[in-house]
Amino acid sequence: MIITKRIQMAKIIDGTQIANDIRNELKVKIDKWIQEGHRPPQLTAVLIGSDPASCTYVKNKMKAAVEVGINSITKNLSPDITEEELLQVIDDLNNDDSVDGILVQLPVPGHINERRICNSVSCDKDVDGFNEKNVGRLCLDMNTLVPCTPLGVQELIRRVGVDTFGKNAVVVGRSKNVGMPIAMLLHADGRNDTCAMDATVTICHRFTPPEELKRYCKLADIIVTATGVPGLIKADMIKPGACVIDVGLTRIVNEATGKAKLVGDVDFEGVRQVAGHITPVPGGVGPMTVTMLMKNTFIASKNLAKKSLPKNEVEKVRQGTEQGNQNKNKKN
Ligand SMILES: NC(=O)c1ccc[n+]([C@@H]2O[C@H](COP(=O)([O-])OP(=O)(O)OC[C@H]3O[C@@H](n4cnc5c(N)ncnc54)[C@H](O)[C@@H]3O)[C@@H](O)[C@H]2O)c1
Repeated sequence: MIITKRIQMAKIIDGTQIANDIRNELKVKIDKWIQEGHRPPQLTAVLIGSDPASCTYVKNKMKAAVEVGINSITKNLSPDITEEELLQVIDDLNNDDSVDGILVQLPVPGHINERRICNSVSCDKDVDGFNEKNVGRLCLDMNTLVPCTPLGVQELIRRVGVDTFGKNAVVVGRSKNVGMPIAMLLHADGRNDTCAMDATVTICHRFTPPEELKRYCKLADIIVTATGVPGLIKADMIKPGACVIDVGLTRIVNEATGKAKLVGDVDFEGVRQVAGHITPVPGGVGPMTVTMLMKNTFIASKNLAKKSLPKNEVEKVRQGTEQGNQNKNKKN
């Protein structure tokens, strides 16, 4: 008698569909905000030079903005702009009351200090969440603008309904803009402002020996990988039923055909035969990143509107929020 074992394939997490759902929800909220008498949220992108990948990213972001009802402008700047001139452009945007969100498309040219530029964006308008004060607030579980890709990963896991409370998670990659904030959101206390996910988190990186990476991954109920190393995460590293989120995005060219395609860090075909949930590349985390930028712009716009209220109105809003928090705490 031949016994055939049926392979249970992982559920594919459709990031495009989830991102569309969130954009539709955002559009409804933004329409309501405008009907209540507010101006539409405004996002300004600063694009330095004409790197094709950066131009495409900014174009996609601007298109998404229009779709949800956010006004958007792209400031195209010369690749020869000096650091001082760029700082002046950002300062002008910081002081412009018609601008809610500022996005400086990275990377900036080599002669410009990226950290200095990220820190120059006003914390209130920092919709990428890269200002060091906002990063610090995230590390302290405080209310802040969270970087878009990590926020998108958190939202994907939530919407799919994967349990994280007390579970083991591995984040592969420790960059300050991607891996580190994902690990912060996965491990931190869900009762604090960031509504984080209470998992037990291990961070692996380029100096984690391959056999150790495999050992840690095997223990993980959730793996989030963000390395840009195609095929790094293989089927024999996965705990059956685990949730695998692939942030990696690498463009590879088939030398025979000359055709390019985007791949992630995960051996998708192998891993989907062991995992419980898996994101594809493309169509997983990517669309969520752009959508979270829209979410952050709307948050920034509401926060700035609140700040410009007369003091007695702010007090009323604050008291309302405190009452809301007290009610929330009673439930916890
Ligand atoms: N889908 C999206 O929206 C989105 C957004 C941002 C970044 N990305 C992609 O995510 C990936 C990571 O981006 P980044 O900005 O963090 O890159 P990065 O180069 O700054 O960081 C890569 C990280 O991977 C780790 N790493 C490298 N080789 C490794 C190995 N063999 N084993 C374990 N860890 C290893 C490094 O230690 C480092 O921390 C890239 O492919 C990038 O294109 C995708």
